[in-house]
Amino acid sequence: MTPFSEIIHKDTFTRDDIIRMLTCTGDEINELFARSAKVKEENVGNVVYFRGLIEFSNICSKNCYYCGIRKGNRHVKRYNISDDEIIEAARFAYENDFGSVVLQGGELESEAYTARIENLLHRIKEISDDKLGVTLSVGEQSPEVYKRWFAAGAHRYLLRIESSDQQLYYKIHPTEKKHRFERRIKALHDLREAGYQVGTGVMIGLPFQTAENLADDLLFMKNLDIDMCGMGPYIEHHETPLYQYKNLLLPLEERFVLSLKMIAILRLLMKNINIAASTALQAIDPFGREKALQLGANIIMPNITPGIYRDDYNLYENKPKITQNAEDYKRFLEERIAQIGNVVGYNKWGDSLHFKERSGGEAG
Ligand code: 5AD
Ligand code: SF4
Repeated sequence: MTPFSEIIHKDTFTRDDIIRMLTCTGDEINELFARSAKVKEENVGNVVYFRGLIEFSNICSKNCYYCGIRKGNRHVKRYNISDDEIIEAARFAYENDFGSVVLQGGELESEAYTARIENLLHRIKEISDDKLGVTLSVGEQSPEVYKRWFAAGAHRYLLRIESSDQQLYYKIHPTEKKHRFERRIKALHDLREAGYQVGTGVMIGLPFQTAENLADDLLFMKNLDIDMCGMGPYIEHHETPLYQYKNLLLPLEERFVLSLKMIAILRLLMKNINIAASTALQAIDPFGREKALQLGANIIMPNITPGIYRDDYNLYENKPKITQNAEDYKRFLEERIAQIGNVVGYNKWGDSLHFKERSGGEAG
């Protein structure tokens, strides 16, 4: 059997190597994390980029079994932030040198919705002198819609596959037309074709999920040649159908370590992509995101959703609440990032180096 220290130094990894790393224990975990930290430093350096996250609406037409804001949850107070408030949040990001924002919302498909996002993109470009980068995270849409939004100025898109295993996908989503696995896969290809930097990711520690599933998820991302990844632990929400399987779940601390392992292994597999330290990590451990940044992630998404709405975007329970105002929060994050020996890359889009390499583009 190949020694563990040899596996983590490989350049290409077999499915078995990945499973071995996912299931490692004790000191091997530290070895893996030290290796992925080194690979991060050598390939993307110690710069962490901010993406100001604007959760502009929790109205969603879908019914994912894991998600607290699914359409079928009658207990959610629904909100839809006005366009002016969204622009104000974007202006805050711009004036605080964030470099880019993420517009995230429930999944809706209509001409009115398409036009609204298009208009918001134009306005964000206008108020920022064309400088603020915009990532969209608004689900599956037609190729035409993706193209329109790209033309209006969006350049990155996040669409998690949630699980790349079709069987598991249908255990966590309704088996019907609106939640087709094939459409999710197609959307990821359409996004790439439209010119976006494409990000995907999965939930870690789902009921029924195995180490083999997670290894396949990592290989899926590698094969899709993604530019960015956002993934984090699954955290059960009592108002969702998946909650009935809570007895099948790993303890939260184990889901947390497994999530860190996924980030570390992805960094070994895809050395120069952007990897986000997800908020869900922080829901389990107050230093969760910093730990992820230390061992491989290089992106953090501070929530800049206006305070009065922020408490209603509860995809999962125990979502960390930000009590400081946005400026204090920025300073707080900056200090935390300095504590782990990283620096914030202000005023930069912080594009995925991987994307630049594959498209032959210039640094942004
Ligand atoms: N636990 C963790 N992540 C969740 N998401 C939705 N519900 C949960 C949950 N219960 C994630 C999904 C989705 C993203 C916006 O939030 O991966 O793509
Ligand atoms: Fe809607 Fe996204 Fe939640 Fe699914 S995960 S119900 S698409 S907000």
